Amino acid sequence: MLPYGRSLSSTVEAGLPVIFHHGRGAEARAFNTIIMQNLLFICLGNICRSPAAHAVMQRFVDDAGLTSQYFIDSAGMGGWHVGQLPDKRMRQHGLRRGYHIDHIARQFDAAADFRRFDRIIVMDEDNYRAVTALAPSPEARAKVLRMADYFTAHPGAASVPDPYYGGPEDFELALDLVEDGCRGLLSE
Ligand code: 4NP
Repeated sequence: MLPYGRSLSSTVEAGLPVIFHHGRGAEARAFNTIIMQNLLFICLGNICRSPAAHAVMQRFVDDAGLTSQYFIDSAGMGGWHVGQLPDKRMRQHGLRRGYHIDHIARQFDAAADFRRFDRIIVMDEDNYRAVTALAPSPEARAKVLRMADYFTAHPGAASVPDPYYGGPEDFELALDLVEDGCRGLLSE
């Protein structure tokens, strides 16, 4: 984004910040500017996996000193838990690893979210189908990515399975996978 009424070269010469969105990496680096990344994590209910991914990614970004370069959010495809804190079990498992998982659930809003976010990262194939079905254009559809695409420590895993009806080990696995994916996302 350029300050109103300025060209790119005059903005750079004046020492004003130029904010590039994801996908303009080389251009932005050439001008030593800020690459802004807007990331949205998606699951079904927005009370287990995606708020966990949201908190883990925020923590990784903060620890890397990149807070000002990322806007991170999460949302669910269903509306059953809108306005609620995350599932108590996910909050407790997350806290044991030092994550404060405290996003207030909201439902995915295709019109606004496809415009606002550069990458929409889904936890499983059901989410992928549901989100891509709402994409208004091929460009919007290309923003939808699978968390599993970023796994390195779990090469056999194809999704972050829903732990909602599971036990403690399922919440631990979801957090392991979320940490793996977020590490991959950050190292891109
Ligand atoms: P999440 O888990 O998609 O990881 O938030 C779920 C939470 C609630 C429900 C399903 C999945 N539910 O059916 O209420």
